[in-house]
Amino acid sequence: MADVKKLYIKTYGCQMNVYDSERMAEAMGGAGYVTTENAAEADMILLNTCHIREKAAEKVYSELGRFRALKDEKPDLKIGVAGCVAQAEGQEIMRRQPLVDLVVGPQSYHRLPQMEARVQTGEKALATDFPLDDKFDTLRQRPKAKRGPTAFLTVQEGCDKFCAFCVVPYTRGAEVSRPAARVLEEARDLVERGVREITLLGQNVNAYHGAGEGGDWSLARLIWALNDIDGLERIRFTTSHPNDMDDDLIAAHGECAKLMPYLHLPVQSGSDKILKRMNRSHTAESYLRLIERIRAARPDILMSGDFIVGFPEETEEDFQATMDLIEAVNYGYAFSFKYSTRPGTPAAERPQVAEDVKSERLHRLQALITRQQRAAQDAMVGRTVGVLFEKPGRMAGQMVGKSDHLHAVHVTSGDVAAGDLRQVEIVESASNSLAGRLLQG
Ligand code: 5AD
Ligand code: SF4
Repeated sequence: MADVKKLYIKTYGCQMNVYDSERMAEAMGGAGYVTTENAAEADMILLNTCHIREKAAEKVYSELGRFRALKDEKPDLKIGVAGCVAQAEGQEIMRRQPLVDLVVGPQSYHRLPQMEARVQTGEKALATDFPLDDKFDTLRQRPKAKRGPTAFLTVQEGCDKFCAFCVVPYTRGAEVSRPAARVLEEARDLVERGVREITLLGQNVNAYHGAGEGGDWSLARLIWALNDIDGLERIRFTTSHPNDMDDDLIAAHGECAKLMPYLHLPVQSGSDKILKRMNRSHTAESYLRLIERIRAARPDILMSGDFIVGFPEETEEDFQATMDLIEAVNYGYAFSFKYSTRPGTPAAERPQVAEDVKSERLHRLQALITRQQRAAQDAMVGRTVGVLFEKPGRMAGQMVGKSDHLHAVHVTSGDVAAGDLRQVEIVESASNSLAGRLLQG
């Protein structure tokens, strides 16, 4: 009898890729593979790549080069590249790096088992097209394996926004939403397997418009339907575009009990000139007004965002407008990046800001965000919040989990298990986490 084969997946980038890697592992489970954390014992290595960062493709090539020794030792080892770099580079990857047996784009993961069979015969396999046969259908989990308390669930992929800096519309393709019934079915299945919190994922998740009963469903409608699933305690979603925050979704933040008070709503810049050049189709003012409406619906919501500094032709004044916007919003969390060129995107052709200027702006922006983040965390001291416990902490007897506002919280008590959702009084704020005291019940 053949041994079980081992699959090593290395995941780069966003939660979408983490989710996709899990689905790939499940699909390959059907082809007799179990996953391993150790590349050296793998029969197949898959790099699930991300194209957002600078020189992403070059980094993939150098990572692949490092597998040469493994392949020399074990000629049957198969190497595959998945994710957005696979989509963007396609066949070029195999041409530049002959070690690679398989290249698979995000829309084609359901084909992995067939591709695996093909590469076992010594052939190469490539699938990087964009058709939308519902890849999730064939990737659905077979065995009812137990899951941890939190899970991601992809509801939407791709993006039609074409921000001038971004590769997503090219690598992930046009915006496509999964049918509501499929999402609900997957959510129920996750809950049966122990999941209590679901984060709905999509590059532009609030543009969700999946087919459902009575016509297309909005994200708000989907969230309300998820809210009715017994055993599911918490709902989150990421990442959203300001222009797709409709009234129902804003209202849901105030009315839907399971929707958590945390919203990631990237603005990218606070300068209207830059926003226009980014093709963002909102202004700093319209974004601020939107946040006011969201806060009117849910006053304690924690806002998070993404920022790009040093976008082509960004002046000190433009940057200052971003700093002003951050001051006005008061974020609980933020991701910030120096602009980096993506070949093929419009911004790549524009006059670039010097690297040292970008670094210096990023530094100032991050200092401001860190202060706000810390203040938001400190403000939790004395409050009682829900915490979904996930795992033991580093200290003996400690359990850690996430608060409703997505802060890491730890308690020291023997009386709580992973998967428990408990009320916790926050007693202390440390650099990256909160300490709490379990309340009875
Ligand atoms: N340069 C820097 N940051 C970028 N992002 C996307 N493309 C680029 C780029 N070319 C950032 C945006 C986006 C996040 C996921 O990554 O802020 O919201
Ligand atoms: Fe990229 Fe987001 Fe803009 Fe879409 S909305 S193009 S994913 S930054």
